[in-house]
Formats: sequence, structure tokens, C-alpha cells
Amino acid sequence: MPHFFVLTIVRYPIYIQLSNVVRASLSPQIEKGTPVYKDLKGKNALITGAGKKAGIGYAIARKLADCGVNVALADLAKAQENDPLLTSDKAQLKRLAKALGETCKVRTVALDLDVTNPESVQNMANELTEAFGNIHILCNNAGTVFGVPNTIHGYDDDAWMKTIDVNLHGVFRVSKAIIPLMQENGGSIINAASQAAKKPPLFNGAYAAAKAGVLMMTKVMAMELAGNNIRVNAVCPGVIMTDFTQWRFDLEAQFFNATADERIAEKCKEIPLGRLGTADEVANTVAFLASSESSYMTGQALNITGGQTMEL
Ligand SMILES: NC(=O)c1ccc[n+]([C@@H]2O[C@H](COP(=O)([O-])OP(=O)(O)OC[C@H]3O[C@@H](n4cnc5c(N)ncnc54)[C@H](O)[C@@H]3O)[C@@H](O)[C@H]2O)c1
Repeated sequence: MPHFFVLTIVRYPIYIQLSNVVRASLSPQIEKGTPVYKDLKGKNALITGAGKKAGIGYAIARKLADCGVNVALADLAKAQENDPLLTSDKAQLKRLAKALGETCKVRTVALDLDVTNPESVQNMANELTEAFGNIHILCNNAGTVFGVPNTIHGYDDDAWMKTIDVNLHGVFRVSKAIIPLMQENGGSIINAASQAAKKPPLFNGAYAAAKAGVLMMTKVMAMELAGNNIRVNAVCPGVIMTDFTQWRFDLEAQFFNATADERIAEKCKEIPLGRLGTADEVANTVAFLASSESSYMTGQALNITGGQTMEL
């Protein structure tokens, strides 16, 4: 029998908004004035999947821009109808990029990018070369899930392929196009993996397999690029409150005949720190990995999970 979610839920647009319980469950004690890495000032960065204000990609762009980094924000040019997770569009991306440039007094550029399309990746790299010339920091952040949760043997073929394509092959395509722009100056690549890459999640096999692939690719790249003074690391977030996570809790809520807030409260019991993480907390780790404060680290995969995952 296919997994329960499939029987009860068809993927359709859900209006995603962070609920009050979620807001309350996020850390009340996150303070302003987190370390600003001075060595990053004047560097150039590309962040993929940076087109949603509540997403991890934009939080990374904001944190790096705060450190004086010129940031290229890349994302899908058009929101995808019937897909609640793919809501970024060019107008939104441009607004976000402009706001960051004005606030942080850095250069910003908004770039169209579909990481599943080699031509789009190449066009993005060409535009980036024109805008910035060289790149010091690459954040392979774009990622998503297609289809609904299911067992491996019940997984929809098309959803499986698309999920692997975005999350794994997307990192390959973008890295291949951007590494030549980093080779002369050296730099830092940070790939978005997940705790799902280390700890098997139920009914999310395509995503987990893709993210595990990203971890191995991170290590291979770290070996290959060390001689070019390019460090390559991955971040493994746990449950971070973004649209992506809200979508998942909305699905769960339908199945368990509960509210999303109740499901979130249940999840928080599994997390030693007792709450979900924030996009800013992931961005803080990414900035550390981008900076020279992490100069002796390469090929690592850092957990940002509130203690939910402690495996190396
Ligand atoms: N939120 C979490 O709990 C969590 C946990 C572990 C890992 N992650 C990873 O962190 C990254 C960011 O997640 P998020 O929670 O901010 O998700 P999100 O859905 O808010 O943002 C993902 C971004 O990627 C973009 N994207 C998707 N497909 C794309 C494509 N083909 N080409 C270009 N851009 C594309 C989307 O448009 C979106 O802006 C993802 O790689 C995700 O897998 C998230």
C-alpha cells in the first residue's frame, strides 16, 4: 500500500505562513550583533535559491552582505504554478537584491537560474562574470522536494528524478560553471546538505539520497580543490522554519488530523534545544565557513540541528 500521505493528500498550493506557535517556538534569545567576519569585506558571492525572503538562501545573502560581501542572488525566474515551494520570481528576486544593496552598501545582482537546466546555469555564470568578474564564495543552497512523502517502493518516478536532479545534479552543474571563476583567487564553497543526509528520514528517500550525494560530492571537491586554495564544506540543517518546513508540517497535520502547530510542538520534543532552528542560524554557520575563521576546515559537514543529529 502506498504511504499514507499519498492516499490522503494531493500536492496543491497551500498558503504558507509562519504560525504563531512556530514564531513562539523560535529562539527568543537570538541577538543582533553576531560576529561580522571582517575578512569577507569586498569579496564576491553567489547564493543559489536566494529568492524567498523567509528562505535560508536569502538569510545567507543578508548575512554575507552584512559582512560587506557583494552578493549575487540567483533563483527561478518564474514562480511555478501548483507548486507551493517554488514561489520565487524575478521581480521578487530583484526587490530582495536591491534592498540588500541599499541597506548594506554592497553590490548586488539578481540572476535567473534553474539548476536543472544546463543552459540556464551557463547563462547565469556568464551574467555573473559580467557583473562581478570573479567569485570567492559559492553557496549551493537551491533545493526542494517534488511529490509527496512515500516509501521508496511507492515513490513516484518523476518526483524521484526531479528531486535528485535539483538537489544533487544542481550542485554539480552550478559548481562546474562557477569553480573556474574561483580558481585564480581561491575561496570557499558551502553546499546545503541536510541532517537527512546522515540520519535516514522516513518517506523522504529521494531527498535524503540526494543530500547524502551532496555530502560525498563536498568531500571529493574538497580534495580536488585544496590545491587551488578553495575550501569546500557542507551544512546539515535540521528542522529550520522556512516555507519548506511549513509545507511538510501542513502535510503531516492533514494526515494526523492535527494542526501544524501541534505537529511542530511534537517535533520540538525530539530536539534537545527544544525548538526549531531559524534561517539566520544556518546563515551564521555559512558565513563562518566562508570566512578565514574556518581556514583549516575543508570537507566537513556541520550539523545545525539543535542537537537532533549529533553524528559527524
Ligand atoms: N528548511 C529546512 O528545514 C532545511 C533542512 C535541511 C536542509 N535544507 C536545505 O536548505 C536549502 C534551502 O532550504 P529552504 O528551507 O530555504 O527552502 P525554500 O523552499 O524556502 O527555498 C529554496 C529555494 O530554492 C529555489 N529553487 C528550487 N528549485 C530550484 C531550481 N531548479 N533552480 C534554482 N532555484 C531553485 C526555490 O525557488 C527557493 O527559493 C535547501 O537546499 C534545503 O534542502 C533545509
